[in-house]
Amino acid sequence: MESSLSPLIIKDKKITVPIIQGGMGVGVSLYPLASAVAKEGGVGIVSSACLDRLVSKRTGKKHNTYDATYEEVSLAKSSGGFAGINIMVALVRDYEASVKGALDAGADVIISGAGLPLSLPAIQPPKDTALIPIVSSARALELICKKWERLGYRPDAIVLEGPLAGGHLGFKIDQIYMESNKLENLLPPVKDMAKKYGDFPVIVAGGVYTYDDIVMFLKMGADGVQMGTRFLATEESSATPDYKNAVIMAKDEDIIVADRPGSPCGLPFRVIKQSPMYVSSLNKLRKPKCDKGYVLLKDAEGKFTRCPAKDSNENHFCICNGLLSSANYNPDMEEPLFTVGTNASRVDRILSVKTLMDELAGKTLALVSS
Ligand SMILES: Cc1cc2nc3c(=O)[nH]c(=O)nc-3n(C[C@H](O)[C@H](O)[C@H](O)COP(=O)(O)O)c2cc1C
Ligand code: SF4
Repeated sequence: MESSLSPLIIKDKKITVPIIQGGMGVGVSLYPLASAVAKEGGVGIVSSACLDRLVSKRTGKKHNTYDATYEEVSLAKSSGGFAGINIMVALVRDYEASVKGALDAGADVIISGAGLPLSLPAIQPPKDTALIPIVSSARALELICKKWERLGYRPDAIVLEGPLAGGHLGFKIDQIYMESNKLENLLPPVKDMAKKYGDFPVIVAGGVYTYDDIVMFLKMGADGVQMGTRFLATEESSATPDYKNAVIMAKDEDIIVADRPGSPCGLPFRVIKQSPMYVSSLNKLRKPKCDKGYVLLKDAEGKFTRCPAKDSNENHFCICNGLLSSANYNPDMEEPLFTVGTNASRVDRILSVKTLMDELAGKTLALVSS
């Protein structure tokens, strides 16, 4: 049976099933997940976060950020279909090397958020790669469009991410549950802004869960959806078995937005409240140690030395080590941190990507509670 959803067209590429699998760092969406989604007609996305360490460990050969990104994107594309990468602005130190590695490997898309990707088009000519910012408001979109106009580039599409998403959220903590910030209410002004700056596709994300949700958002004017949590507990996701199990067990009341202690990136961050790294931070148990450095910011001398989790974990957990542990990088040394979207409480089993994509494309009946 064919999908009944209309295709998504980005930079002249026709994506048969209008679903982008959201980038999930650290190490949750790697090439096995991305290539499986690409094969089923969606867009598979690897996360750039900490790829140098993850790929070096997997291959037993030292990879720098550029090489690791090139390798991961190439593998994600190797089984056919469309695949790309999510590169977070908050990963300042490695941002340019990640972008260059992805472009040189021929990524179909680069999706970039957790901050405003104001200089993305200036790094290197993107050729066939679509550049897709993530925004949470029409205002943020306008800022990006104005800056990119000066660089002679227009977004090839945008992801509008609402407050129910997993990972970092583009909202202040007290704005998360405001009626005006519901995804369906954010969409019309963002769609208008996209029309004003060139009528590029708008892809919605955050809380999209069923085939019916997808149909509803497409009817409201979205051109596609991006989904993370539904792909987190698939067979092909690289989350550890403990992480997938925590997702399956999570109830509504277990899923919280961490603020204090919170992410050193300064954005609200959704987690399962029993995550060992979060609990340790709450109980002041972890002795602070900065040995990964992915979210460091520059100091007055231009050196990457600043992170609020460096000297104390009372207000900020060590996100690099917590998320690396959830991806099985260093589970014996560090406790894991489980980030999820609000809908993790609805996930009750591990599915293959094929089964999930068939369901989401409307080819089969739903297998999970809706
Ligand atoms: C485990 C997990 C990790 C995530 N990591 C990232 C990330 O590294 N960068 C990013 O831009 N978004 C990240 N996200 C957000 C997703 O890409 C996606 O937009 C969002 O989760 C959509 O909402 P949903 O989970 O309700 O489908 C993450 C989400 C999850 C669940
Ligand atoms: S303190 Fe932790 S979170 Fe901050 S940069 Fe260092 S390793 Fe990363």
